[in-house]
Amino acid sequence: MKKVVSLLYLIVLLVSISDAKATKPNIGNFLECLRHRTTPQNPINEALYTPNNSTFLSSYISYAKKKTYSSNPNVTKAIAIVAAKHESHVQATVVCSNSNGIQIRIRSGGHDFECLSYTSSVPFVILDMHDLRSITVDVRNKKAWVQSGATLGELYVKIAERSKTLAFPAGVCPTVGVGGHFSGGGYGNLIRKYGLSVDHVVDAQLVDANGKILNRASMGEDLFWAIGGGGGASFGVILSWTINLVDVPEIMTVFKVNKTLEQGATDVLYKWQLVSSKFPRELFVRAMPQTIIDWTGNKTIAVVFYAQFQGSAKKLVEIVNKSLPELGLKREDCHEMNWINTVTFWNNYPVGTSTSVLLDRPTSQSGPYFKNKSDYVKKPIPKEGMEKIWKLMLKFENVWMQWNLYGGVMDEIPANATAFPHRKGNLFKILYFALWSDVNNTALNLRLMKELYQLTEPYVSSNPREAFLNYRDIDVGSNPSDETNVDQAQIYGSKYFLGNLKKLMEVKAKCDPENFFRYEQSIPPVRAIM
Ligand SMILES: Cc1cc2nc3c(=O)[nH]c(=O)nc-3n(C[C@H](O)[C@H](O)[C@H](O)COP(=O)(O)OP(=O)(O)OC[C@H]3O[C@@H](n4cnc5c(N)ncnc54)[C@H](O)[C@@H]3O)c2cc1C
Ligand SMILES: *[C@@H]1O[C@H](CO)[C@@H](O)[C@H](O)[C@H]1NC(C)=O
Ligand SMILES: *[C@@H]1O[C@H](CO)[C@@H](O)[C@H](O)[C@H]1NC(C)=O
Ligand SMILES: *[C@@H]1O[C@H](CO)[C@@H](O)[C@H](O)[C@H]1NC(C)=O
Ligand SMILES: *[C@@H]1O[C@H](CO)[C@@H](O)[C@H](O)[C@H]1NC(C)=O
Ligand SMILES: *[C@@H]1O[C@H](CO)[C@@H](O)[C@H](O)[C@H]1NC(C)=O
Ligand SMILES: *[C@@H]1O[C@H](CO)[C@@H](O)[C@H](O)[C@H]1NC(C)=O
Ligand SMILES: *[C@@H]1O[C@H](CO)[C@@H](O)[C@H](O)[C@H]1NC(C)=O
Ligand SMILES: *[C@@H]1O[C@H](CO)[C@@H](O)[C@H](O)[C@H]1NC(C)=O
Ligand SMILES: *[C@@H]1O[C@H](CO)[C@@H](O)[C@H](O)[C@H]1NC(C)=O
Repeated sequence: MKKVVSLLYLIVLLVSISDAKATKPNIGNFLECLRHRTTPQNPINEALYTPNNSTFLSSYISYAKKKTYSSNPNVTKAIAIVAAKHESHVQATVVCSNSNGIQIRIRSGGHDFECLSYTSSVPFVILDMHDLRSITVDVRNKKAWVQSGATLGELYVKIAERSKTLAFPAGVCPTVGVGGHFSGGGYGNLIRKYGLSVDHVVDAQLVDANGKILNRASMGEDLFWAIGGGGGASFGVILSWTINLVDVPEIMTVFKVNKTLEQGATDVLYKWQLVSSKFPRELFVRAMPQTIIDWTGNKTIAVVFYAQFQGSAKKLVEIVNKSLPELGLKREDCHEMNWINTVTFWNNYPVGTSTSVLLDRPTSQSGPYFKNKSDYVKKPIPKEGMEKIWKLMLKFENVWMQWNLYGGVMDEIPANATAFPHRKGNLFKILYFALWSDVNNTALNLRLMKELYQLTEPYVSSNPREAFLNYRDIDVGSNPSDETNVDQAQIYGSKYFLGNLKKLMEVKAKCDPENFFRYEQSIPPVRAIM
C-alpha cells in the first residue's frame, strides 16, 4: 500500500514539474512557431485570433454556449484562438503550445456545461474546431464520416437527405458538437434500441501530443477505447469520426403529454418508474418534472412526457394504454413522421416545421444563468420522496428535471465495452437543470441546487454517486487549471468512469505521459502499479 502511495506521489511530482514551464508561456514564440509549422497553401492567419484582433471577443463568444462568460475572469486568460480551417492548423497548435508550455482547451460545439472547453485560470489557447465540419454519408454501406466541428443537427440533416430509413443514435439538441458529444458517450432517444453514439463509432482520427495524426489502427485499440466515453480532451484532438448508421422505420411516432400535480402527476410518474424500463426498446419516454405557473397564477409542478417510438401511432397507443393507462394517451396526442422530423419535434418546434432549423448555429449573446447536475437511478423513487422533491423545486425561480429512460440494449452492453460505464441496472438518468435571469440570484440558485442534490441522495446511485461526463458538473471534484492532483482526479474520475478509470489512467500514461492534454477534470497519467 505504501508503495502505491509513493508511486502516485512521484507521478504528481512529475506533473508539477511540467507545470513549471506552463507558468511562463511565450506567446511570441508560439505565434512564430505557428507560422513556421503551417504553409501558405493553408495560411494560419485566417484562423488566428489574438486579443488585439477586433473580432477576438466575437470569435470567443460565438461558441461559448453558457452565458456567464462576461462575468468569468477565467476567460480573459485566453491568449489566442485558433479556429482551425485545416488539419495542419490543429497539428501546429498542438506542437507549438506543447513546446512553449502553453495549455490548450479544445472546443467543438462549445456546449460544455461548465465552460471547460473555453476557460482556464492560467493563460491558454483555444483550439476551435467549428470550421472542420465536413460530413459524408455512404448509404450503401450505412456509414458516415463526420468531422468534430459538425453539429448533431448537421449530421442528422445530411443523413436524412440521403435516406428516410437511416439514423444515428446521439443527443437531442441539434447545436451540440460531435467532438465533445461522441467522446463523452453521446446519449439520445434511440438509446434503448441502439445504445450510445460510441457504440457505433468504428474509427476516429486523432492528433496526439506530438502533432501526429493517428487512426484506429495506428493509435491502437486501447486509445480508441478510451476516447469512446473517456472524453477526448484528456487524450488528443479528435479530428473526425467514422460511424455506422442504424435502421429506423420510415414512419415513427412522437407525443408530448403533460400532467400537473393536480392532475395526478405523482401517481403517473411513479407508475412510469415501475413499468417504463420494460417498454419495448423501440419506445423511449422522457419525463420532465418542472415548475410552471398554472392558469390561476400559482406556481406548481407539471410533468411533461415526451415520447419517440419507432413504429405507428396505433401501436404506440396500444402499448401505452396497456402498461401506463394513467397517462390517458389519446390517438390525437400522437404524430406520425420521419425520423428527422421527430428531431425537430423533440426540440419543441411545431409539427411541420422545416428541418432546416436544425442547421442553425445561433451565437450566444446574453441570457439566463444555469446550473446542471446528473444522477443515475436504479430503483423507483417512492412517492414520498417525489413529494419532497416537488416541494423543494417550488422554491426555485425555474427548475426542470429530465428523467431519461434506460433499459433495453443498455442492459446488455458490458460496462467495460466502451469507456462509458453506466449501463446495466439503471432505470433512468436524471438531469437537473436550474435557470435564473438575474446574476444576483446565482448564489441562491446554486445553494438550492445543492439542497436538491442532497435531498435526492437516498434515491440514487451510491458508492460512488455516479455522474455523466457529458453533463459536466464541477461539484463532483476538480483540479486547478495548472495542476493535476491524482487523488482529486480519482474522486471525479470514479464518478464519471466507475471501474473503467484505472484503464483510462493507464492509457493516458502511455499516450500522453507528460500530461499535455489536461484540464480541470482530465484523466491523470498513472501507470499500472503491479
Ligand atoms: C443544450 C444542450 C443539450 C444537450 N443534450 C445532450 C443530449 O441530448 N445527450 C447528451 O449525451 N448530451 C447532451 N448535452 C451535453 C453534450 O453532449 C456535452 O456538453 C458535449 O460535451 C458537448 O460537446 P461540444 O463539442 O458541443 O462541447 P465542447 O464544449 O466544445 O466540448 C466539451 C468537452 O469535449 C472536449 N472536446 C470538444 N471537442 C473535442 C475534440 N475535437 N477533441 C477532443 N476533445 C474535444 C472539450 O475540450 C470539453 O472537454 C447537451 C448539452 C447542451 C448544452
Ligand atoms: C489577427 O491579428 C493577427 C496579427 O495581428 C493577424 O495575423 C490575423 O490575420 C488576424 N486575424 C484575423 C482573423 O483577422
Ligand atoms: C497583435 O499581437 C501580436 C502578439 O502579441 C503582435 O505580434 C502584433 O504585432 C499585434 N498586432 C497589432 C496589429 O497590434
Ligand atoms: C443544462 O441542460 C439543458 C438541457 O440539456 C441545456 O439546455 C442547458 O444549456 C444546460 N446548461 C448549461 C449550463 O449548459
Ligand atoms: C401542458 O399542456 C398545456 C395544454 O395541453 C399547455 O398549455 C402547457 O403549456 C403545457 N405545459 C408544459 C409545461 O408544457
Ligand atoms: C394558489 O395557491 C395558494 C397557496 O398555496 C392557495 O391557497 C390557493 O388556493 C391557490 N389557488 C388556486 C386557484 O388553486
Ligand atoms: C384503452 O384501453 C381501454 C380498455 O382497455 C379502452 O376502453 C380504450 O378505448 C383504450 N384507449 C385507447 C385510446 O386506445
Ligand atoms: C471487460 O471485462 C471482461 C471481464 O473482466 C474482460 O474479459 C474483457 O476483456 C474486458 N473488455 C475490455 C474491452 O476491456
Ligand atoms: C444586482 O445587484 C447589483 C448590486 O447590488 C445591482 O447594481 C444590479 O442592478 C442588480 N442586478 C439586477 C439585474 O437586478
Ligand atoms: C477560475 O479558475 C479557478 C481555478 O481553476 C477556479 O477555482 C474558479 O472557480 C474559476 N472561476 C470561475 C468564475 O469559473
